[in-house]
Amino acid sequence: MPTVAQTLQERLSDALAALELQSVDAAQVVPTADPRNGDYQTSVAMVLAKARRENPRALACRIAETINLTGIGAPPEVAGPGFINFRLEPEFVAQKLVAVSNDPRLGVEKPANPKRLIVEFSSPNIAKPMHVGHIRSTILGDAIARIARFLGHEVVTDNHLGDWGTQFGKVIYAWKHFRDEAALETRPLDELVRLYREADLRSKQDPGVLEQCRLELVNLQKGDPENRAIWERCVTLSRREFASIYALLGVEFDEQLGESAYDAELPGLVERLLAKGVAEISDGAAVVFDNEISETPFMIRKSDGGFGYATTDIATLDYRIKRWNPDGIWYVVGAPQQLHFRQLFSVARRLGYKLDLEHIAFGSILGEDRKLMRTRSGESVPLRELLEEAIDRAEKLVREKNAALPDNESEEIAKIVGLGAVKYAELSQHRLTDYVFAWSKMLSFQGNTAPYLQNAYVRSRAIFRRLEGPFQPPNRILLAEAAEQTLGKEILRFGEVVPAVLDGFRPNVLANFLYELAAKYHVFYEQCPVLTAEGETKASRLLLCDLFSRTIKTGLMLLGIEVPERM
Ligand code: ARG
Repeated sequence: MPTVAQTLQERLSDALAALELQSVDAAQVVPTADPRNGDYQTSVAMVLAKARRENPRALACRIAETINLTGIGAPPEVAGPGFINFRLEPEFVAQKLVAVSNDPRLGVEKPANPKRLIVEFSSPNIAKPMHVGHIRSTILGDAIARIARFLGHEVVTDNHLGDWGTQFGKVIYAWKHFRDEAALETRPLDELVRLYREADLRSKQDPGVLEQCRLELVNLQKGDPENRAIWERCVTLSRREFASIYALLGVEFDEQLGESAYDAELPGLVERLLAKGVAEISDGAAVVFDNEISETPFMIRKSDGGFGYATTDIATLDYRIKRWNPDGIWYVVGAPQQLHFRQLFSVARRLGYKLDLEHIAFGSILGEDRKLMRTRSGESVPLRELLEEAIDRAEKLVREKNAALPDNESEEIAKIVGLGAVKYAELSQHRLTDYVFAWSKMLSFQGNTAPYLQNAYVRSRAIFRRLEGPFQPPNRILLAEAAEQTLGKEILRFGEVVPAVLDGFRPNVLANFLYELAAKYHVFYEQCPVLTAEGETKASRLLLCDLFSRTIKTGLMLLGIEVPERM
């Protein structure tokens, strides 16, 4: 089913062809910013007039007179320097809404060429604190993967765990000397970080300790059974705790391969890169230079023979291409790693790989003091504590709002609202902006927040609980009131907005659309009584409520946010 914008675009193309004007990309039909200018508009006349040295208004008038909008809208108006403004007929909107209500995809078309995509996100490190940077990657990556999948792409999600690295020398040393078994069972992520820090501190004070840590690492890499067993326990315990955090967040991965999965490939890979002339030896190290990117070489084998982050990433890329032959690999990783990914992608091109490689970067989270978010002791904030706090705060809020709810239900709702609030605060911002993490703002029922959107959904569902008998969607509806028309037109935009999220990877476009949609629903709700209305009016309003609730629920689900039925 074409979207409204596509339908208008087609009619516009027909008119341009009839006038022997050529269609230009820059002149899309887009929604107007101000409803006084109609519903959609195009600046095609201005773009064409410039190239043809014609008067843009005169050209706009010729196009407006030629375009056939029978059954869609009134004859378009020409405004300002040459905009062509379209206003939809309520009857056209009504018919479209009935069609969308019969479509399980709510008007979102499948892409003409579905792709196979790997979306890599979260990727925390073992024995290093999982911090708010990882939460951004987790929430953003999950939303992008959900949206790509809903659109109809084949998506493989992979959590590239940092489970192999020099930190293990220190962790193993400390494990042998100061581990706390009980803590390892209950809070393994924290305990492993504590062990790492303990060894780090001691090795700074005592060169003997530093040397022992180094030996533990060498032994691990040589395959010493005791060290290998310790490493395995560290990984198992950490994975278990990560899994419980992901379960709380409702995040799932198809794969969680981790850096260690590629270790055996590294020596051969470096030889291959050298043989192909992609890498070269410089000061005893194997490096890749790309002076167009940076003078800093991409280090693939250090002069002491050790491999690192870069080598593992090339091996990972190789593996993914062999195993899945994807059309694209998308990495959701913070902006500070930009250089790393540019260098990695340059190696991929030199290896002849032709696929869409994207570094989907994001900014930082700031505390209310506008500095990088930290706990009072100056550490980065542990993710689990942050999520638990969100749920606790939401629970107070839910109880204040509706004291009559039974305990287990308000706990369930608190989880949905609290986690939703944290996710929405992330997703409603452009990913590259540094945003301020402020509890009071994200948990407010007013403004652009998850609770506001969830509340709009709850309102729309409450109507159906009070309805006597099941809701039978009507085959035709009537949109008499302005608030009904405005809401109806906004619902129809869902099919335009969801595919647009992937260009530029902007879940905030969907989030902010859902906010506008909820705001229009509230206006409708206040101005148009539903249950006391009669006949066709009642059926039409019920259809709007039903479509609204399905649209906002699906939209939030695409952002990884759940909705409660009551709150
Ligand atoms: N573990 C890394 C970190 O926390 C992120 C990994 C990003 N992914 C990658 N393929 N390099 O910084």
